[in-house]
Order: sequence, then structure tokens, then C-alpha cells
Amino acid sequence: MAEAKKVILRISRFNPEFDEKPHFQDFEIEIPKGMTVLEALYFIKENIDPTLTFRGFCRSAICGSCSVKVNGHPKLACKTQIWQEIERFGTNILKIEPLGNMKVIRDLAVDFSEAEEKLKKVKPYLIPDPEVIPDTNDEESIVYPEEMEKFDKFTDCILCGTCYSMCPAVMFIDDYAGPFQFGRIFRFAEDPRDGLKKERSKIAYAFELWKCIRCERCADICPKHIHPVEAVTHLRAMSIEKGLTLNPGARHAIAFYKSVTSTGMLNEAILPIMSKGIKGVLENMPVALSFLLKGKMPPPIVKPIEDIEGFKKVVSLSAEVE
Ligand code: SF4
Ligand code: SF4
Ligand code: FES
Repeated sequence: MAEAKKVILRISRFNPEFDEKPHFQDFEIEIPKGMTVLEALYFIKENIDPTLTFRGFCRSAICGSCSVKVNGHPKLACKTQIWQEIERFGTNILKIEPLGNMKVIRDLAVDFSEAEEKLKKVKPYLIPDPEVIPDTNDEESIVYPEEMEKFDKFTDCILCGTCYSMCPAVMFIDDYAGPFQFGRIFRFAEDPRDGLKKERSKIAYAFELWKCIRCERCADICPKHIHPVEAVTHLRAMSIEKGLTLNPGARHAIAFYKSVTSTGMLNEAILPIMSKGIKGVLENMPVALSFLLKGKMPPPIVKPIEDIEGFKKVVSLSAEVE
């Protein structure tokens, strides 16, 4: 007989017809080695409680439908083995909850429509460049490996929403597109067959690109090991190239770059002025005064480092490599 462990699945239940708010219900079941969270949910539905509601389809980490939180961490239920989670958390109780940042429809099923609407708005499809894509089917439109490499990883996204569910910018900023949405914009911005290419950074900019706080949560939890925050970084650079600099984030990045590349040092004293203008200076006045009183005010003029010319060569070489 296969080895099995008794495990309590503490599942969040919510039926909008009867419940004011979600509550937990425990299901104690025998879990054989290798059983996934999704298989356990199906077992409960088929053998204990047919009303348990969740999503799942491919059971192969492809369709992106089965994401849930397991002990607070969003994961694909079909890719998450229960024994491994028990060992990781050192407990035989696993809390299974719906994803965050989305309204719960019932039990573990969430309403994906807001994330989906945002995705639609950012044009997540190839807009053919007539100069690159031939009119007839007789010729191929080739993407070379070195071009593909730039965006290839982002084509692995299965739209599972895991990154979206943990993103603090999504939580607090209504118009913020979201991590996988920025990943999709970047994927097409780098595609040589696309008609908009880097112009797509303007779409990203309109959807609060600079509000990402670079917490990297999206990258940490993506089941496909995609780094949406990298897309954000590249799109920011593209948007600056396109002249979209009228916001504190872009101005901060430009001031940072100018300071470091001209002297080899960061001029912290002028950064608030360059980033936020006079408003920034006034906002930072109490902090600046306390620095001044404690003798910790950074000097307004920064002397270049000793080998500044060598440093500039390194900067220009790294720009060429990019
Ligand atoms: S790095 Fe940006 S996009 Fe990713 S979770 Fe944090 S705020 Fe959201
Ligand atoms: S980027 Fe990763 S976590 Fe986000 S939707 Fe795509 S596959 Fe899921
Ligand atoms: S069931 Fe398709 S990704 Fe899990």
C-alpha cells in the first residue's frame, strides 16, 4: 500500500448567498506521496463535499487556472505537492485560500475580470509591422535567436494571475496595469515583427509604469520563473527614450544616472531637487534640516572619483553590451 500521511486542509469557504465573509473549514484526509493540492481538492469534492468550488483544468501547469494560496503563498495547485509543503512549513495543517487582489466569487474561485480588462487595454497581441511581415504566405517572417532571446522568457506566461495577486501596486493603485500585463507589453515591444515596438512603452507609461515599487514579489512567486519586474525596468528605459520624463520616477532615474556617470558618485543633496523640483525640496525640508543639525547633510558639490575617465569607459562599454 502506498505511503500516506494524515493532513488537515484548512480551506477558505465563502458562499455569497449565505456568508457575510469567508470562514475556514477543516478536511482531514490521507495524502499519498506525490499528491498535489489540486488532486486533494478534487478528492474532497468527489468524496466529501461536492459544493467545494475551485478552478482547475490542465493539471500540468499550462492553463494557469488553478492558482490558490497555500499557507499564504500563491502557487499553482496542480504543481504543488502536499508532502513538500508539509516539510517546508513543518506542519500537517495547510491553509488553502483564494488569490488576493481579486474579489472572491465562491470558496477558492476569484473574479479575474479586472485583471483581464487591464490586459485587454494594453493590446496584448502582435500588431504586424507591414515593413517586416510580408503580404503573402510565400515568405517567412523570421525572428532570429538573438532577437528572440530578449523576450522569449515572457512568452512562457500562462496568465495564472499569481503575480497580480501579490502585487502591492495593484492593491493600492486603481490604474496600475499589473506585473503580467507589463510583461506582455514588453514581450511585444521587443518583437521585431511588431508595428508599435518601443512605442508600446507609452501604453505602459499610461498605466502607471513608474508606480512599481520594485519589491520583486512578482518575480519571487511566478511559477514559470518569469521576472515581470525586468519588463518594468526595460519599459521605463524605453519610455525615457521616447521622451516621457514628466514624472518624479523618470526624473529620479535620469538624475541618478547623470550624477553617477559624471562623477562616479551619487549626489544625494541634489537628487530631490532634480526628481521633484521645488516641491520636492519643500517636502524634504524637515529631513534636510534634521540632517543639517546633526552634521549629516550630504555635500551639494561632489568631487569626481580619482579614475573618472576609466569609470566612464566602463559605463560606455556596458551600454554597448546592453
Ligand atoms: S515589483 Fe512591481 S510589479 Fe512586481 S509585485 Fe512589486 S510592485 Fe508589483
Ligand atoms: S508572469 Fe508568472 S505569475 Fe504572472 S501571470 Fe504570468 S506565469 Fe503567472
Ligand atoms: S490546472 Fe492548469 S495550471 Fe493548474
